[in-house]
Amino acid sequence: MNKFITFEGVDGAGKSTHLAWFADALRQRGFDVVVTREPGGTPLGEQLREILLNQPMNIGTEALLMFAARLEHIEQVIKPALSAGKWVISDRFSDASFAYQGGGRGLDWDKLSQLEQWVHPDLQPDLTLFFDVPIEVARQRLENNASLDRFEQEQADFFERVRAGYHKRVRQNPQRYIVIDAAQSMDAVKLKLEKIITSIRYE
Ligand code: TYD
Repeated sequence: MNKFITFEGVDGAGKSTHLAWFADALRQRGFDVVVTREPGGTPLGEQLREILLNQPMNIGTEALLMFAARLEHIEQVIKPALSAGKWVISDRFSDASFAYQGGGRGLDWDKLSQLEQWVHPDLQPDLTLFFDVPIEVARQRLENNASLDRFEQEQADFFERVRAGYHKRVRQNPQRYIVIDAAQSMDAVKLKLEKIITSIRYE
């Protein structure tokens, strides 16, 4: 049994903090857990991340580079870890491309589906935790960040479209997702995560 779990949400939803806690909770149960992220997760992927987060580019280029980094990530990190019986928890995966490049930037959804089919026809997360939060709340949380990347600098309407993109993905395949109300307090979210960890089937 392997588990590939992804964390998703708009910038400011709080997913990264919760991911660290979730991974620790699984490790305490004795599981071997690999924590990784996108874009990134490999040496080449981290170089692409640097470019993607800082360098203005064509929307199509942005989508292709996201999936290029993802291909490396899948082949070098995700699949080997799953084959070795480890759990993999990734801070973002393809849902983010549909939400940000599809929803946010308006890139054709079908093109993204084609890239997904090409890059990982036989792999999907077993479970995706989607941290859903009203955009005003997410924006407030980002306010204290000293340096915002190219995505975080976008306006509220961009993030409304990103959020709608995530909702569309959830509607298309609801059984893969748990939607978490990330406007709640950190403690309330943690309680919800504890329940999820208890309810995961470990056989
Ligand atoms: P993020 O995961 O929010 O990292 P941090 O918490 O360090 O800021 O940053 C990644 C950014 O990349 C985020 O704004 C969303 C964007 N992104 C895409 O636009 N498409 C993708 O496919 C992925 C994986 C990320």
